[in-house]
Amino acid sequence: MQRTTRRTFLDQLDTLTKAAVVGHCLPLSTGCNDGRDGREADIALRAVRSKANLLPGPATDVWTVTGEVLNGPPGALLPQPSLALGPTLHLRKGQQVRLTFDNQLSEPTTLHWHGLSVPAEMDGQPHSPIAAGRRFTYTFPVLNGAGTYFYHAHPHERTGEHVYRGMAGALIVHDDEEDALVLPRDEFDVPLVVQDRVFGADNQLVYAPSRMQAMQGWLGDRIAVNGALNYTLNAATRAYRLRIINSSNSRIYRLAWQDGTPLIVMGTDGGLLERPIQREYAMLGPGERLELWADFSARTVGSQLALVSLAFNAGMTMGGMMNTGLPQGAALTIMTVRFDRGSTDRLPLPERLVTIPRYRELDAVNVARPRPIVIGNRMMSWTLNGRTFQLEEAPEDDRIELGALEVWEIDNRGMGGGGMGGGMGGGGMGGMMAMPHPIHVHAAQFQVLSRTGVTHQGYVDEGWKDTLLVMPGEAAKVAIRFNDYTGLYLYHCHILEHEDRGMMLNFRVVP
Ligand code: C2O
Ligand code: CU
Ligand code: CU
Repeated sequence: MQRTTRRTFLDQLDTLTKAAVVGHCLPLSTGCNDGRDGREADIALRAVRSKANLLPGPATDVWTVTGEVLNGPPGALLPQPSLALGPTLHLRKGQQVRLTFDNQLSEPTTLHWHGLSVPAEMDGQPHSPIAAGRRFTYTFPVLNGAGTYFYHAHPHERTGEHVYRGMAGALIVHDDEEDALVLPRDEFDVPLVVQDRVFGADNQLVYAPSRMQAMQGWLGDRIAVNGALNYTLNAATRAYRLRIINSSNSRIYRLAWQDGTPLIVMGTDGGLLERPIQREYAMLGPGERLELWADFSARTVGSQLALVSLAFNAGMTMGGMMNTGLPQGAALTIMTVRFDRGSTDRLPLPERLVTIPRYRELDAVNVARPRPIVIGNRMMSWTLNGRTFQLEEAPEDDRIELGALEVWEIDNRGMGGGGMGGGMGGGGMGGMMAMPHPIHVHAAQFQVLSRTGVTHQGYVDEGWKDTLLVMPGEAAKVAIRFNDYTGLYLYHCHILEHEDRGMMLNFRVVP
């Protein structure tokens, strides 16, 4: 069958049948090779215990995700260089995906598609554990636009450990609007999943947060990028698109180029910005993503450039004293870019990227009474609106109407106070009650309307967000609308030790 004939033939079928036909990947279809045409992707994923060679000496035990494409574009799943991280998924807006997940771990887990809008029962929430040895097929249409998302385990009270041991990976969505732009593609479009780890003497991962360490979040002393330590990107002297995903349990990065070259930011959590913007540095909390336009065309072959995190004040007086890793806010190197070959490819930085329909505060149904998300602390647990997570309970006031634009106010101005009493040994602990929290909302992308009490520069609030870093003393108003599904979802702090200990609440999207 000729390609043109097949196209015409396909155009006459209804969407469902079409998906089935494309899914079988006829040999003449280029869509099966470049990952751009497949209207269906059928992917097998497994959670496995494995070993990764991360350090000289013994291999490190990891729990990770492996898999393969059963039907659809082979490029829908690209393995990582290291088994310490799951493969990168490349999906397409409008695509129907089936991810058959086989849990070969010895305990329940889930996979959550962070940033995507999917039906509640497909969201991989702690309410829907996949038992050890069982399978579940996550199936949903990709409704989100092109952007940098990620997936990770999200089991009840165990998310921190599962993600730390390797249960995460990048999830890239492509679409037509993005295809129409001249952007770095394929090998010049690089997802970078950034995490921090602590290794014991036997090269094994150490994860044992005490109550106090859980309060601060577990911090590592080694940075892994795409599952590898001392990560080096061998690059040509031309423009790159770097998609930085903070999948660290609690570490916040203040991203910058080591030589002071400004960052050109082209995208945030939920897709491209309207136009690229320049920042001296950019803050990136756990769960947040940032896309950089990195033009290396003026670099010399043989030179290198580090992507670093600059020192910053995290507002935690106890930072580093109680933790095994580098303190929150410590200066560190994330990775090195080594220019190992020249290139004559010249890509101009696009002036415009995509159109973002702007939410207006005035159009919100609750403009006078923003829905509060107040960060607090009680009995050495972080709270939201004074509560901690109850698996089966959606507070009555946390019902949100499908399709209604709302204003939410994330408030990190309180210093907690009280509750630190017994067992804490009193004095000098007050300052620890204030710390940064990246607040993540499932099932919708939101827009930042305003911030108050800002103490840090380097936020990129111009684009779609699903996770927002709010430093101590700050509050942020966002506009959010759940467009797609009713059902039970979550919002929570993406410091995974906070989430696991209850800094998370259910909410219900209602018709
Ligand atoms: Cu990235 Cu509810 O999580
Ligand atoms: Cu999420
Ligand atoms: Cu938190």
